[in-house]
Amino acid sequence: MNILVVGGGGREHAIAYSFSKSPLTKKLMVAPGNPGIETFAKCYPIAADDIDGQCRLAKDMKADIVFIGPEIPLVLGLKDKLSEIGINAFGPSKEAAKLEGSKIFSRNFCKKYNIPQPSFKYCSDLKTAKDQIELLNGYCVVKADGLAAGKGVIVCDTVNEAIEASTQMIEKNKFGDAGKSILIEERITGIEASVFAVSDGNTAILLATAQDHKRAYDNDEGPNTGGMGAISPAPAINEELNEKIFNNIIMPTIDGMRSNGNPYQGILYAGVMLTDEGPKVIEFNCRFGDPETQVVLPRLNTDLVEIVHNTVTNNLENTFIDLIDNTTITVVIASQGYPGTFKKGIELPLLDKFDNKDDILIFHSGTAKNDNENLISSGGRVLSVTAIGENVQDCRKKAYKAIEEINWDNGFFRRDIGKL
Ligand code: AMP
Ligand code: GLY
Repeated sequence: MNILVVGGGGREHAIAYSFSKSPLTKKLMVAPGNPGIETFAKCYPIAADDIDGQCRLAKDMKADIVFIGPEIPLVLGLKDKLSEIGINAFGPSKEAAKLEGSKIFSRNFCKKYNIPQPSFKYCSDLKTAKDQIELLNGYCVVKADGLAAGKGVIVCDTVNEAIEASTQMIEKNKFGDAGKSILIEERITGIEASVFAVSDGNTAILLATAQDHKRAYDNDEGPNTGGMGAISPAPAINEELNEKIFNNIIMPTIDGMRSNGNPYQGILYAGVMLTDEGPKVIEFNCRFGDPETQVVLPRLNTDLVEIVHNTVTNNLENTFIDLIDNTTITVVIASQGYPGTFKKGIELPLLDKFDNKDDILIFHSGTAKNDNENLISSGGRVLSVTAIGENVQDCRKKAYKAIEEINWDNGFFRRDIGKL
């Protein structure tokens, strides 16, 4: 099969790497890709959100399947545009991607189908927001409705903090149209976990669980980031919780989207909080997580091409998904200053000593090549170092040893990924 992967981060590196291992893959293309992906697949300099460009490439390259990695092209309707030209794409349609693209849509949807979640209030003016914030004594979460590059969620302790966050969004246009309408949510507590399921619109199968580490610094301190590391399986989720999440969250979502007239096809990523009252939805994402993919896919024993093909042909029913028993962790090496301002273009050490290692995989998140063809940093998150091991301790040992060997002075990383 000819496969095109849309995107160019660590997640897409892990996805493309899995495809590259499949005997079913004939031609593997990635757009835009990155220097890590380039070592085994053909990359094309087309941005992930260039919808027309991606469609043209898919057509020119005679792609049988397009795997859409990031949320933006999904929310912009890349899947629908590809369908119009007769190309199968893996990922939800524009309407179905609203589960991630609009937090208000997602909350109203869960309410309609009795999917457990925190209580919430929709606000399009500051007066309504203030009343709700006061009702909750400021202990609440303020959320921009639309996509805001992971920055549109403010967890608040006080009335003033929450009013300030709401004012920034509604009146000061902090996130443009994405923040014109907001949610004020009840703030719930518990351990968080990411749950990944795949669905063809009818059948859903749990792929794996993972735990993300979102804060920038050790002991969950510092600002929120896209994710500084992850571990799979999520240590807090046992068989019983897995079943509960599947029956009370995943399956009602897939069934609800179908009865709403927008069948959900692709990866459904549920961010859940394990509260005293059971698992509740913090958010839905319409794609794989980054860096969670870098720990989930290395555990997959079933051919990813088979899963993707069975999904886009509505044939997941008889698909069996097998995971290795091992544990995986990934530690992100980020540029100093991330998630604030940071320098780009700093040279990286050679990474070829990790080629052909079975238990260490280095995924490129934000790298590029300079004019001399040397590897340089080009983003906040630069590399994602995945270790595969018997248990968490074993993985930690391997991952941190590899990071020591990489020894990149200009980066920083958390030292407590997977620490129990
Ligand atoms: P999100 O971007 O929706 O995943 O939110 C970012 C982070 O904010 C989550 O990982 C949670 O830690 C926190 N969060 C979001 N919603 C809530 C909520 N209703 N109660 C408590 N924490 C929340
Ligand atoms: N790691 C969080 C996300 O991918 O949304």
